Amino acid sequence: MKLILLGPPGAGKGTQAKQLLGLLGIPQISTGDMLRAAIANETALGMEAKEYMDAGKLVPDEVVVGLVKDRISKSDCSSGFMLDGFPRTVPQAEALESALNEDGKKIDNVVLIDVEDDELVGRITGRRSCGACGAIYHLIFSPPPKEDTCACGAGGLIQRADDNEETVRQRLSAYHQQTAPLVDFYRDRGVLKAIDGTKKTPGEVFNKIKYELQLES
Ligand code: AP5
Repeated sequence: MKLILLGPPGAGKGTQAKQLLGLLGIPQISTGDMLRAAIANETALGMEAKEYMDAGKLVPDEVVVGLVKDRISKSDCSSGFMLDGFPRTVPQAEALESALNEDGKKIDNVVLIDVEDDELVGRITGRRSCGACGAIYHLIFSPPPKEDTCACGAGGLIQRADDNEETVRQRLSAYHQQTAPLVDFYRDRGVLKAIDGTKKTPGEVFNKIKYELQLES
């Protein structure tokens, strides 16, 4: 299956992708994680991306399109992949579509997780992730077993540099202006599955995704 997880910042794309990994056995490709890795490794691409990410703006299309095209050409993507945070603009979606078309492939499903802005701000400012295994927690909604320590035991919990209220508001604005048009883009192609994630637990959202993708056993 070639799947896209679409939704505003904090909607739960990463949380759901980690649940789906076990069920689908296809790689999760998060452009946000790839860009943060490039920043941590102090590559030229990472240094360019950092300026945009710290300001809550989208990284230029040509940067992320190149990253994703390269990633989906790897052998572990031959039977499918799950894109988390890509595409985020119509030009990115068009570039993905033509890259897949060249190989006679297409996106099978786009899951939109929609959540109201006010709830998203609370989710993002309370998020903490494990520096070692990448597990995602929330100080209130999904707290770690022990304060500041991941269940994996190997990592301390960190807060992302762009998870402050001012940057979150800018990220939401970028979503509404540049990413929301993808809802119609994929609805027109008949692959959109829209899920209302407002005031729903991660488990409730996961059950809805399984239902929409007909993954129920
Ligand atoms: P990226 O890393 O992709 O961030 P994002 O899209 O802003 O999404 P988040 O990771 O913040 O949220 P999420 O939906 O994964 O939520 P999560 O599951 O963690 O991008 C960061 C930046 O990189 C962008 O701003 C941009 O600059 C750049 N970038 C990346 N891709 C790009 C692209 N394609 N083009 C251009 N630029 C790009 O959940 C959030 C919190 O809520 C967690 O604490 C979680 O525990 C909690 N939670 C989850 N579900 C629920 C629930 N149902 N109820 C209560 N709490 C919940």
